[in-house]
Amino acid sequence: MSEQTRFILNESDLPKFWYNINADSPVLPAPVLHPGTMEPVTPDFLSVLFPMDLILQEISTERYIEIPEEVREIYKLYRPTPLLRARRLEKALDTPAHIYYKNESVSPAGSHKPNTAIAQAFYNKKSGTKALTTETGAGQWGSALALACNFFGLDLEVYMIRVSYNQKPYRRILMETYGAQVYASPTDRTNYGRSVLAESPDNPGSLGIAISEAVEAAATSNGAKKYSLGSVLNHVLLHQTVIGEEALKQMDMANEYPDVVISCVGGGSNFSGIAYPFLRENLKNGKRTRLLAVEPSAAPSLTKGVYTFDYGDTARMAPIVKMHTLGHDFIPAAIHAGGLRYHGMAPSLSALYDAGHIEAIAVQQKATFEAAIQFAKAEGILPAPESAHAIRATIDEALDAKAKGEKRVILFNLSGHGHFDLAAYETYLSGQLEDYEYSAEAVQASLAKLPEVNISA
Ligand SMILES: Cc1ncc(COP(=O)(O)O)c(C=O)c1O
Repeated sequence: MSEQTRFILNESDLPKFWYNINADSPVLPAPVLHPGTMEPVTPDFLSVLFPMDLILQEISTERYIEIPEEVREIYKLYRPTPLLRARRLEKALDTPAHIYYKNESVSPAGSHKPNTAIAQAFYNKKSGTKALTTETGAGQWGSALALACNFFGLDLEVYMIRVSYNQKPYRRILMETYGAQVYASPTDRTNYGRSVLAESPDNPGSLGIAISEAVEAAATSNGAKKYSLGSVLNHVLLHQTVIGEEALKQMDMANEYPDVVISCVGGGSNFSGIAYPFLRENLKNGKRTRLLAVEPSAAPSLTKGVYTFDYGDTARMAPIVKMHTLGHDFIPAAIHAGGLRYHGMAPSLSALYDAGHIEAIAVQQKATFEAAIQFAKAEGILPAPESAHAIRATIDEALDAKAKGEKRVILFNLSGHGHFDLAAYETYLSGQLEDYEYSAEAVQASLAKLPEVNISA
């Protein structure tokens, strides 16, 4: 076994195709429904929000979809990303496990999110879109899309959850530096935002409300603006599969194959990005890698949610999908992993979890930051609070391997760095960070408002 630490691919190894799990998934995706009629949506309805190329990817069952050359050119700014063996963490844990991580924090915006932002901006530009609207929680997605829109000369309106807007000015400034306009949601710019403010003028905002505002801004623009989403949808998960395709080659360079692949889940995009190419190997080539999704205890949609049809947003304007959900108006506690505070989960991932192809666990905030700091001290990289959920689970796997005296090969996705999340680290270091259990009563109340759908699925 070599003592190599970094496994680096050449630019020529940059994937030429995205991998579409819907070609191989043993579970058929349920139809996406119109939020008004509750009937399956038509491409016409979706075309108000998305360009046709992305709608076709959303419903495609083709196994491989070619990555346009224009997108690959921009990917080259940071891809292929490095794979590292966390030798120093292994030593600190005194574990026989081998720990590898794919470092997606090296993108210019600091996370995996540009992998889809660049593709979405490209297809919008190609179809003549002039401006995009989107929402952002902690700001990782907003900065990724601001970066991408800047490269393709598109305007961008970002609805940023008010509490993050106030607490994280540096993410807002990064978005503005790339040229985006950023608004604290709820805003007085949309009917829905005004209605929320009329009821609760100090509303701190939520991802569900911000999605509603961004969707309304696009849907009422007479075609001038389209909407862009950073997770959950099939085409977003598709674009993220460059992570897993590269990781497969890099594990090969390391002469190992993972027993378990671990990633955090908010809407499911970075998990699917690394895990789906390994799931293909499980389904088609007899591999038996465990795929472990890690969510926060404050928003445990997979482990505590219900698998059913629900709205994607609070105002019930976005399409209805079948997913693991805590209810569309459930507002998770204000944990620092803002990107994991979503009530639902990607439909393809929900279906695969329901069918037993994927495992999931929920972890608490304090234990997550403890793991983040252990990782930062051992490996030097300060992880995003979201990514630290994967690190918590990785350390627990490595300690379990140690307890059982097993050599276990663990691969996790480091989805982003935490350089804009230092206030969260300060809260932890000063002993003020709290754990939050989700409220089962609040979830029950929210689930009582699920849409009544007459589709058997
Ligand atoms: C660094 C990072 N990791 C993970 C996530 C969770 O999103 P997803 O589940 O779509 O990967 C986010 C979302 O904002 C993020 O910023």
